[in-house]
Amino acid sequence: MKYYFCLLIMEKKIIITIDGWSSCGKSTLAKQLAKELGYVYVDSGAMYRAITLYFLRNNVDLAEKKEVKKALKNINLEFIFSSKSNNSEIYLNDENVEYLIRDMLVAEKVSDVAAIKEVREFAVAQQQKMGTKKGIVMDGRDIGTVVFPKAELKIFMTADNAIRVQRRFKELYEKNPNITIEEVKNNLEMRDYIDSHREVSPLRKAKDALELDNTNLTPKEQLSKALALAIAKTKK
Ligand code: DC
Repeated sequence: MKYYFCLLIMEKKIIITIDGWSSCGKSTLAKQLAKELGYVYVDSGAMYRAITLYFLRNNVDLAEKKEVKKALKNINLEFIFSSKSNNSEIYLNDENVEYLIRDMLVAEKVSDVAAIKEVREFAVAQQQKMGTKKGIVMDGRDIGTVVFPKAELKIFMTADNAIRVQRRFKELYEKNPNITIEEVKNNLEMRDYIDSHREVSPLRKAKDALELDNTNLTPKEQLSKALALAIAKTKK
C-alpha cells in the first residue's frame, strides 16, 4: 500500500465520491481510501446528522420553512482531525458531536431532515467548497449526482440487506445492548425508502458510477479494488 502512496504523490489529485444505501460500508471504504491516498475524508452524512441533532435539541418544526431557515443560520459545522480516533470528527457550534450523532434518536429523524430542500442547499454548498482543491473522498447519497457531478471517480456501493442489518446491529449493539435486530432492520428500511423517494436529490446511482457490491468482500478486498480504480484515474 505504501508503494501506491509514493506513486500517488506524483499523480494528479482527483475527487472520489462514494454513494449508496445506508450501512453498506461506505464510510469504512472512504476512510481507508483517503488514508492510503493522503486525501481528505468527508462524511457528508455526519453533516445531516449534526443538523438533525440541532433541530431535535431546539424543537425545530420541520414543517415550518421559516423556522428551519432561521435554525440553519445558527448552525456552524466543522470537521476537525482527532489524533485519538485518527479521523476527522464533526463539530456543531464548537461542540464535538461525532459520537452523539450516531444515536438512534438522530437516526430516526435524519432522513426527514435530509429531505428538506433548504437543509440540502445548506449542506451541499459547504461540501462543494471542501472539494475545490480536490484530493478528497466524500461519501453520502448524492455526492456523485449533485455535489460533484464531474468527479473523476464515482463508486456506488451495495450489499445484501441481511448483511447490512447484521453489520449495523453489531455496531449499535456495542453501544446499546438493548437494541433489537428488528429495530435496526426497520430503521434501515425506513431510511433507504425516504432517501431514495424524496423529491430533492434522491439516492440514485450516477450514470458514470461504478458499482461495488461488498456482500462477499472483506474491507481489505474492497479497499484494494477501489484503490486500483483510483490509481487508474489519477493517471488519466
Ligand atoms: O450516511 P449516514 O447514514 O450517516 O446518513 C445519514 C442520513 O443522511 C441518511 O438517512 C441519508 C442522509 N444523507 C443524505 O441525504 N445525503 C448525503 N449526502 C448523506 C447522507
